[in-house]
Amino acid sequence: MLDIITIGDEVLRQKAEPIKDFSSELGILVDAMFDTLKIDDGVGLAAPQIGVSQRLFVVDIPDGEKKVFINPEIVETSQETVAFEEGCLSIPGIYTDVVRPKRVAVQARDINGKPFNMNVDGFLARVIQHEFDHLNGVLFIDRIPEERRERLMKTYYKRNKKK
Ligand code: NI
Repeated sequence: MLDIITIGDEVLRQKAEPIKDFSSELGILVDAMFDTLKIDDGVGLAAPQIGVSQRLFVVDIPDGEKKVFINPEIVETSQETVAFEEGCLSIPGIYTDVVRPKRVAVQARDINGKPFNMNVDGFLARVIQHEFDHLNGVLFIDRIPEERRERLMKTYYKRNKKK
C-alpha cells in the first residue's frame, strides 16, 4: 500500500509530466495504485497523490471496470453541468458539491501505450474530471465558491492540527 499525500504538499500543486516509458515498472506502479485505492475505499487515484508527478490516474468505481488513464486529455465537455458531492483522499473528511460538465470525451493511453477514446457520463465522468484535475495541480476545493472553501479548509485544518 502506498502513502497518500495530503493537501499542503507541493507535489499536489505541480503540473505532472507526460509518461514516455511504458515499461513493466509502470505496471507495478499501477497495480500498487489499484491496491491503495481499494484499501482506502476510493474510486479514483492520481499519481501525484502518491508523490509521483506523472500524467497517470486509475479509476475503480462500483459496478464498473478498473481503468487506467495515461497521458489523458479531455477533448470535449458538455455545456450541461451538474452539481455532485465530491471528496478526495488527499483532503480526507471533506465533502462538498462541485459543479462540472455532465459529459466528457476523453483520450488517453492504456498500460501498453495504446491510445483509446471514451465518451462518459454520470459518475464516471465525474471521477475522471476530478482525477484529471490532479494532473494539473488542481483540487476539487479550487472549483467551489471561495467563502465555502475557506470554511471547509478551516474545518479541515482544525481537525488535522498537529498534536
Ligand atoms: Ni482527489
